[in-house]
Amino acid sequence: MDRGAEQINHEYSKYQFFFRTFAPKYSIKNMKRIQIINGPNLNLLGKREPSVYGSRSFESYLEELKTRFPGVVLSYFQSNVEGELVNKLHEVGFEADGIILNAGAYTHTSIAIADAIRSITSPVIEVHISNVYQRESFRHHSYLSQVCKGCIIGFGLDSYRLAIESFL
Ligand code: DQA
Repeated sequence: MDRGAEQINHEYSKYQFFFRTFAPKYSIKNMKRIQIINGPNLNLLGKREPSVYGSRSFESYLEELKTRFPGVVLSYFQSNVEGELVNKLHEVGFEADGIILNAGAYTHTSIAIADAIRSITSPVIEVHISNVYQRESFRHHSYLSQVCKGCIIGFGLDSYRLAIESFL
């Protein structure tokens, strides 16, 4: 089993005991495995341009998402490095039920990430916190949109919740 599958199975088994014991209505076979992947500079959410991206850290928002979707195995990965985003897509992209990808500025530049999305089988939703179409023209083009299942753009952090809902 490759690293991606192992990681997802590890996350999955952490949840099994809890749900069998306390919430049997969430049968394990119904639990969706959803991977969130954030690209460059999104580690600075909360501090970075709060007028555009808000003042909340992603880690705090992630806790809220986990509470809100107890029947979802939600994994999170962030990197500022393009190749690491490609590697992560390869790792989880044959196991996850859905991938939510905010590739940050690589959205507008990366043929490598677009090719990685084309190469995997898990459906990918492209998300953006800001409405990129209200911003500079270089943000109006995405290399990723045409290879993603859908795009959710401009709802602040709520874009991620909407993306999860779309997989359920
Ligand atoms: C972003 C929009 C991108 O243009 C920008 O480079 C980001 C964040 C968003 O979530 O609004 O880093 O993806």
